[in-house]
Amino acid sequence: MKTRPLIISPSILASDFSKLGEEVIAVDKAGADWIHIDVMDGHFVPNITFGIPVMQSIRKCTAKPFDVHLMISPADPYLVQFAAAGADLISVHAEAGPHLDRSLQAIKNLGKKAGVAINPATPLSVIEYVIDRLDLILIMTVNPGFGGQIFIPAMLDKIRQAKALVAGRNIDIEVDGGVTAENAGAIYQAGANAMVAGSSIFKGDDYGANIKALRVAATTISA
Ligand code: DX5
Ligand code: ZN
Repeated sequence: MKTRPLIISPSILASDFSKLGEEVIAVDKAGADWIHIDVMDGHFVPNITFGIPVMQSIRKCTAKPFDVHLMISPADPYLVQFAAAGADLISVHAEAGPHLDRSLQAIKNLGKKAGVAINPATPLSVIEYVIDRLDLILIMTVNPGFGGQIFIPAMLDKIRQAKALVAGRNIDIEVDGGVTAENAGAIYQAGANAMVAGSSIFKGDDYGANIKALRVAATTISA
């Protein structure tokens, strides 16, 4: 089976918001594949971040794909605006609404890639009947709402299950939360090919070295 390319998607949630545009440019230059955008509504998750106008204004800072993680409920009324603001890939949470299939159809009808995010306690079976609408499965490896949390080890098994469920389809398996150079190898070996990382990339002043460390850790087979 063909190996999917490793994708590093820095989460700007961990960046310095007082110079957000510069931070986006910096991770672009540092080798980010995608830019991960965490939208939180203070309702679906216990935190509020930013939304459509902020996304629109950083769209001009990079040509890299915007990997938009909607932690909002409901999501459907805002999909058109997120698509217009420059999202390339839009992930909605399986837990955020009663009509996941409808949300995914709406994203695809807007010409965007569609993802489903699932919380740590949510079984993977929730995507079984929508899998053929998916471009991405976003496995939350922390409870969504905050950066800087610890990776939940039980999620490695969920990643393996996702890999089996995907069964060679053209779908990326992405992990989000607590990804570091220490666990990237195990995550990649379990079957995830896309990694979101906030704190472990936006630390210190050499984002390029931080991204490189993740890539090397992910692809170096440990004995
Ligand atoms: C959490 C967000 C994550 C977060 C990851 O709700 O979805 O994208 O920014 O941050 P780290 O890498 O610091 O765990
Ligand atoms: Zn996220």
